[in-house]
Amino acid sequence: MKFLFVNGVNLNMTGVREKGVYGVETLDEINAQISEHFPDDDCLFYQSNLEGEICSVIQNADADAIILNAGAFTHYSYAIRDAIASVKIPVVEVHMSNVHSREEFRHKSVLSEVCKGVICGFGKNSYILAAESFKL
Ligand code: DQA
Repeated sequence: MKFLFVNGVNLNMTGVREKGVYGVETLDEINAQISEHFPDDDCLFYQSNLEGEICSVIQNADADAIILNAGAFTHYSYAIRDAIASVKIPVVEVHMSNVHSREEFRHKSVLSEVCKGVICGFGKNSYILAAESFKL
């Protein structure tokens, strides 16, 4: 399968920011582990802090599935929500942290309704679990 892993705003700071929440590994290190976990699949990775760029990447995606951690965009980006709704490729929303055990503003996702499913709270494994769901 061809998986596109999309990370949004501030995810480039993984391993640097709030290590107690997001861990000590960088996004590049996590992405390398994801690729190792799926040796027979194509894993493509993209990160941007810019909302419109994420919309364009979703619109133009050439993949069987998109695994999306939109970061804080999750909680308010109607633009990303509309981009997801505009494509046929299934999108799984992921979060490394359990957003429901954190601040109240993180409990609301404007993306979930147009995603195939949501996985949160498993650290870097949230990405792997989301992609594994397409293999069952
Ligand atoms: C996050 C959770 C979001 O609330 C937060 O803004 C992030 C990361 C996560 O992976 O747990 O940047 O999506």
